[in-house]
Amino acid sequence: MIQKRIIGTPINTEAVVKVIEDGYRAWDKLMVTDKLPQMLSVCIDENKNQIVISYDMDKDDIVYGLGESMRGINKRGYIYHSLCADDPNHTEDKVSLYGAHNFLVVQGKENFGLFVDCPGKVIFDIGYTSSSKLEITCESKDANLYYLTGNTPMEIVKEFRELIGRSYIPPKWGMGFGQCRWSYMDENEVTAVADGYQNNGIPVDSIYLDIDYMEAYKDFTLHKERFPEFEDFVHKMKDRGIRLVPIIDAGVKIEKGYDVYEEGVSNDYFCKDEDGNDYVAGVWPGKVHFPDVLNSDVRKWFGQKYRFLTDKGIEGFWNDMNEPAIFYSEKHLKEVFEKIEEYKSKELDIEEFFAFTGMVAGLSNRHKDYETFYHNMDGQKIRHDLVHNLYGFNMTRAAGEALDKIEPHKRMLLFSRASYIGMHRYGGIWTGDNQSWWSHILLSMKQMVGLNMCGFLFVGSDIGGFGSNVTEDLALRFTQWGMFTPLMRNHSAAGTRRQEAYAFERTEDFKNMIRLRYFFLPYLYSEYMKAALRGDMYFRPLAWEFPDDKHATQVEDQLMIGENMMIAPVYTQNATGRYVYLPEEMKMYRFRSPMDVDVDILEKGHHYVECALNEVLVFVRQCSIIPCAGNAMSKEMKNTDTLDDKNLILLVNPNILNGEFKAVEYEMYSDDGFTKDYENPKNLRKITMRDGEILRGKRIN
Ligand code: GLC
Repeated sequence: MIQKRIIGTPINTEAVVKVIEDGYRAWDKLMVTDKLPQMLSVCIDENKNQIVISYDMDKDDIVYGLGESMRGINKRGYIYHSLCADDPNHTEDKVSLYGAHNFLVVQGKENFGLFVDCPGKVIFDIGYTSSSKLEITCESKDANLYYLTGNTPMEIVKEFRELIGRSYIPPKWGMGFGQCRWSYMDENEVTAVADGYQNNGIPVDSIYLDIDYMEAYKDFTLHKERFPEFEDFVHKMKDRGIRLVPIIDAGVKIEKGYDVYEEGVSNDYFCKDEDGNDYVAGVWPGKVHFPDVLNSDVRKWFGQKYRFLTDKGIEGFWNDMNEPAIFYSEKHLKEVFEKIEEYKSKELDIEEFFAFTGMVAGLSNRHKDYETFYHNMDGQKIRHDLVHNLYGFNMTRAAGEALDKIEPHKRMLLFSRASYIGMHRYGGIWTGDNQSWWSHILLSMKQMVGLNMCGFLFVGSDIGGFGSNVTEDLALRFTQWGMFTPLMRNHSAAGTRRQEAYAFERTEDFKNMIRLRYFFLPYLYSEYMKAALRGDMYFRPLAWEFPDDKHATQVEDQLMIGENMMIAPVYTQNATGRYVYLPEEMKMYRFRSPMDVDVDILEKGHHYVECALNEVLVFVRQCSIIPCAGNAMSKEMKNTDTLDDKNLILLVNPNILNGEFKAVEYEMYSDDGFTKDYENPKNLRKITMRDGEILRGKRIN
């Protein structure tokens, strides 16, 4: 059951799509019934201009959710600020990342979900200040609160997902392997990357173009010297089976004669400063204006601009810097320069010295700057900080809505850096500028459950790590985790060590791991599609699948993918194995390549399992089947278009009762991978294994 409470006069964020008039009763009236948690209270603090929601947690209560955030799958014990932030240092102490996903589920003595639909800053103190207190503070007096009940977290999540609408579905090629790097400077360099993969027999579906493909980092332009025959090049690459995916940034360069700038200025399409002038900030192109994507006319205009690239054969985009990131604001930069002038003529004491360095270091992504510009939300003037978390959502919505018009029958690849719940209907996300750190494999794993709960299914982290120099072993272990994320993209920052799969000595191992991704793709794609169409989870915590197993709630470094597969990636340097917990007896596959594998049955309980650097572990649950591609090792298989999902190899953990084999079944979703006929009943079929078929050798072991 879902109940809604409207506090003040909240703006419509469009996070929610379902209107259930009857289901929404005034929450205050229900406070007296036992349908609501007894200890949940809502207080509106007029003086502080805040809404404070508090709940007394029981000692064993677990809190799930909050999408892209730091720390564990169980969010208890820390504080999180929902405030989209461009911060490339994802250290443990951080309270905000790029997304704002205000949905959580409390499981324990009472089970409930809460969605705080408030687009400004919201603080989730989950047992940080006081270990038994959950306190949520909205820095606003206006919010829509949704309160959901159900017997299990999964039931609550399903209800929530119905409320917020179906998750984005990518083309199947978007789930193939992609290579990216900031600094592929021209056609030749991109061609060399394609050669690096294809000459080594490593499948690849996409190569991403970072800001260097543009002229002076201007959106919807091309660098003519670097990509002189762009359209031809796009098609040449497509003929090789590789799609190019360009980046689009939020800020529009201020430059006389540049059409996007000129049109934006003359139509009043940019965000305004306090005096009504177009707001000026500094990002990659230098000085920019921000398209006011919270306005529907601006969304239509900006969205149609993507046509510049789709007309040239482009079928996918990644939207960046859309928190929006601000390296500096023109106004504050001036203030800092003035202060420096003042400091120059002075003998600085040590306090002043640190005030000076802090002032310069604090120029970027300064919250105060977000209080100095305004949106025109279809007639309503709103200060940016009050709706800050909606910017990335609406930039991506602009693109998504336009791409639907440009290519009504074709799925387009689209993902974003900043996001708010609601954006999950238009695109996926990547988890931003992580680092080549071992801890970031584990962080990425822990983020997936919260993201899936909030509707973000098409997700992944930069494989190998974006910042700092990767090592070969880390890149390989990162790949062994990334091969299970729907978005599988290797990406790194300019100036860091090269980390393409062929850039290391163990190219063969990288090749085998990427081929394994394609091997598992029939299952991964099927589970993705079922999760999207049914409001289900692609990544699930063990605790949800094995609710009676107390120990399973503690496991945060293993994940279920769909119902049948459990993964346990290695994320520690020099480790040649790891501890794994099995909530039931499972079949363990130790893969070195799709055709090189050991198989074992492991009992329920704790195990130390060997897993050398060139190996990856996959566990298959009892009575289940995992369908895999039959041609994942063949030379002809070089991308998703050439992957055979008809002749399957099945990993089977059979159902043997009293020595007698019972049939096992898998409900498999498959389709052409690019049209939108998702609901066609032909897409679903049952794969059934009986004893005889096993003898015909359709499976590995
Ligand atoms: C941002 C993005 C990163 C990109 C870089 C240059 O840092 O997060 O992925 O490579 O900008 O465009």
